[in-house]
Amino acid sequence: MGKVNHFLDLNQLAKSDLRGIIDDGIALKQTRAGVSKGTVDEKAPLAGLTLAAIFEFPSTRTRVSFDMAMRQLGGHTIVLNSNDMQLGRGETIADTARVLSRYVDAIMIRTDSHEKLLELAEYATVPVINGLTNDSHPCQLMADIMTFEEHRGPIRDKVVTWCGDGNNMVTSWIHAAGQFGFEFRVACPEELSPDPRALAWAKQAGANVHVTRDAVEAADGAHCIVADTWVSLGDDASNRHNLLAPFQVDEVLMSRAAKDAIFMHCLPAHRGEEATTAVLDGPQSVIFDEAENRLHAQKAILRWCLGA
Ligand code: CP
Ligand code: NVA
Repeated sequence: MGKVNHFLDLNQLAKSDLRGIIDDGIALKQTRAGVSKGTVDEKAPLAGLTLAAIFEFPSTRTRVSFDMAMRQLGGHTIVLNSNDMQLGRGETIADTARVLSRYVDAIMIRTDSHEKLLELAEYATVPVINGLTNDSHPCQLMADIMTFEEHRGPIRDKVVTWCGDGNNMVTSWIHAAGQFGFEFRVACPEELSPDPRALAWAKQAGANVHVTRDAVEAADGAHCIVADTWVSLGDDASNRHNLLAPFQVDEVLMSRAAKDAIFMHCLPAHRGEEATTAVLDGPQSVIFDEAENRLHAQKAILRWCLGA
């Protein structure tokens, strides 16, 4: 059997493939200008193909953007909540992978366990896509890179600063920094530092990644400031708010960044916690472009996975 194009983590993929996906996403977006959302793209590259989208956690953007991506590419989606599947009653991931591979052409999963994602990919004979795990969120990063480049041109050699929890998004930003060649600064409390495996990868890959406890220092001259929820899916909320309060992004912190810096957040946002409403809704915010670009970037990811 030939190689299956899984989309699991950005550090597992070739730089040229990642660049190709971003460029395809931008091109796909351009072809949709003025086209109504439900219209199938002219060439319908995924006609006759079906995606199974498994959710172990709630989702708004991932659920709707993958479904619309498949529709616009001429294909179909079956959305599966794990509690409604035999998976929720103990059927193994390996068996689920082998069964679904007999019915559908690709599988997307959002899960609380990165190991489950890897097991699914090991046993599936169709492409598997990471729709967020406790460890990473690579689809979001593809939309974020696309969004940065739309607003500010090539991200190579630019500075991106993260303020807050060193969570699953941070791991994907670290991978992206190595793969796309930009500087990534993480300002976070020691207790919520980035995954040491991601930092070890960054070191051996020569990625320009720095971790600091000082948000003001990290924001200095940055081209992009990023925030995310203080309590990720599956996290225990206790004590996080106290630890993370010094890392809130407000207008004072934004003023430390470059004059034309943009503000990013993958959403959902908690206004007045990780970022103020003034920043989230302010002139530097591109948060809804990021949300839209999930659709376009994932269309490109699906085409890459399915070779279409
Ligand atoms: N950003 C993101 O993945 O959003 P959802 O949780 O709504 O899918
Ligand atoms: N870090 C967040 C991202 C949500 C899209 C979480 O895992 O909940």
